Amino acid sequence: MKIIMLGAPGAGKGTQAKRIAEKFGIPHISTGDIFRANIKNGTELGKEAKKYMDEGKLVPDELTVRILLDRVKDADCSKGYVLDGFPRTIPQAEVLDSELAKLNEKVDYAVDVDVPDENIVKRMSGRRACLNCGATYHLEYLKPAKDGVCDKCGSELVLRDDDKPETVNKRLKVYHEQTQPLIDYYSKKQILHAVDGTVDPDEVFKAIEAILK
Ligand code: AP5
Repeated sequence: MKIIMLGAPGAGKGTQAKRIAEKFGIPHISTGDIFRANIKNGTELGKEAKKYMDEGKLVPDELTVRILLDRVKDADCSKGYVLDGFPRTIPQAEVLDSELAKLNEKVDYAVDVDVPDENIVKRMSGRRACLNCGATYHLEYLKPAKDGVCDKCGSELVLRDDDKPETVNKRLKVYHEQTQPLIDYYSKKQILHAVDGTVDPDEVFKAIEAILK
């Protein structure tokens, strides 16, 4: 089963993708997490990606596509995967489709987690992320057991550099210009399913489970 998560920055794609991955036993692949791990490890890729991410811009397609296509060739992807944050542009979607077509495969579901812009800035300023294992929390909606500490790996929780309000507004603009056209792209392929992302995360997940059954 190959699933794509769509939605604005902070809509809850990562939160839901992790649950889908756990329930269906498939890997959760977040291009944002891959970039952040590279930044943390000081790789050349990380240095290049950081320049764009800190400004709220997209990392260029050439770089992103290569990383994603390499990752989905790994053995753990043989039964499918849930992609979180990829594709983000029409060219990325087209490359993914054409690479899958070569293997006689296709994307099965595109799930759009729908949250209006007004809710996003508030959510992002309350998000705390673990840069070690990728887990995310929220100061109000999803608190860790101990303040500032990741429940899963015990590392420190931080406000991501790109979650500051001025960068979030830029990311929203980029989302509307470059990523939202994918809604139409997958709608035409008749695999698009929208869920209301403003309700409690458990309710969002129930709606997604009903789609994937
Ligand atoms: P990425 O990491 O993918 O960021 P994003 O898409 O902007 O998404 P986020 O991770 O910010 O949010 P999310 O939707 O996963 O929400 P979450 O579940 O955490 O990418 C970062 C950057 O990398 C990009 O800006 C770009 O530069 C680059 N990049 C990545 N992929 C790329 C690509 N393909 N091409 C080019 N560049 C790329 O939830 C948000 C918060 O809300 C959390 O605190 C959570 O606890 C809380 N929350 C979740 N659900 C709910 C709910 N239902 N109610 C209340 N709170 C909730």
